[in-house]
Amino acid sequence: MQERARDVGPWSLEKLTLLRKYLAAYVNATKDIWERGDIITYVDLFAGPGLVKNRDTGEVFDGSPLIAMRLEPPFSRFILLDLDPDHVLALQDWVTRLGLQGKTQILQGDCNVQIQTVLRSLSRSGASFFFLDPPSPALAWNTITQISRIQMWPSGNKLEQFILFPYNMGLVRMLPRDENPELIWGETTEEQISSVMPDPVKWRKVYQAWQQGSFEAAQKRRRFLYLYWSGLKELGYNYVLGPRTIRRQNRRALYDLFFCSDHPVGNKIMADVFRPQLSFGEQLPLVQEDPYNFRQGERWYLDLSEKWDHARHNCHRVDQQDLEPGYRVYQGQPWL
Ligand SMILES: C[S@@+](CC[C@H](N)C(=O)[O-])C[C@H]1O[C@@H](n2cnc3c(N)ncnc32)[C@H](O)[C@@H]1O
Repeated sequence: MQERARDVGPWSLEKLTLLRKYLAAYVNATKDIWERGDIITYVDLFAGPGLVKNRDTGEVFDGSPLIAMRLEPPFSRFILLDLDPDHVLALQDWVTRLGLQGKTQILQGDCNVQIQTVLRSLSRSGASFFFLDPPSPALAWNTITQISRIQMWPSGNKLEQFILFPYNMGLVRMLPRDENPELIWGETTEEQISSVMPDPVKWRKVYQAWQQGSFEAAQKRRRFLYLYWSGLKELGYNYVLGPRTIRRQNRRALYDLFFCSDHPVGNKIMADVFRPQLSFGEQLPLVQEDPYNFRQGERWYLDLSEKWDHARHNCHRVDQQDLEPGYRVYQGQPWL
């Protein structure tokens, strides 16, 4: 069978390097669990065909499932899923070649539909790592939520999730400044965005404020990333790391990575892996424990009360005393 490889931009190799670094440390850190007979599972819900090809150079590299399947010490089990039947066939071929049939379950379909099947077949003893690498806004928030509800035995830890959030590469084009997105992208556009965001109301508030000129696109981006981070935090994880931005060579942001874990060691390793030594451009500071790590003037967008709406629409007339404590009125660009 001819090896199938997915064409990717060189930035995908940075993402895969971060994954490889984390997993290499993860299998070592979980060796004790494995040695006492518990199960360490790698789950990839957007697995691809196994290989990726750098579209600039033609070089072929291992994609996420092959990175995981070739690690030493090895994972005890793998669950791989993809929507594309050809990718699933290519994965089956790899599993046979690597002699991993007894350890691997391969599923075909939409991961948002199949998530309960995946979770039912997951061993609850030991530890599990989920890689969620959607090509577009295809990862439903509900899927992330369902994953976060499972606790492992005996640690009680929630499942670790490493998530790609396709803000620049997916959501931005769906959020035009001067037009109704549904007139361009179809009636279900807002529904689709709501399905991938933690909250169907907050992102709309941010979007509308940007359309009305309250702040620039870079600030809209920060707010979307923050909403995503705080949504993950609200799932109850002890640690949520991100955003780790992956950029093109010309420094334009493409997508952002987030990591959720209950384990301090996992958090420490990923904080190290996220350091931007490989990156093409600057990073926002990683948001860690303090939800107000963002600039104080940006706090307003967490408040969705009518007062906030009133204040924004009447921003020229708003005085400091009209606002809740901690909110500030700015001269010129009032909300920045
Ligand atoms: C960005 S690629 C991921 C590649 C893989 N992680 C790698 O390193 O090679 C996205 C993959 O997700 C698959 N996909 C798209 N939508 C999906 C969905 N709703 N559920 C499962 N897989 C999906 C595509 O067929 C594609 O193989």
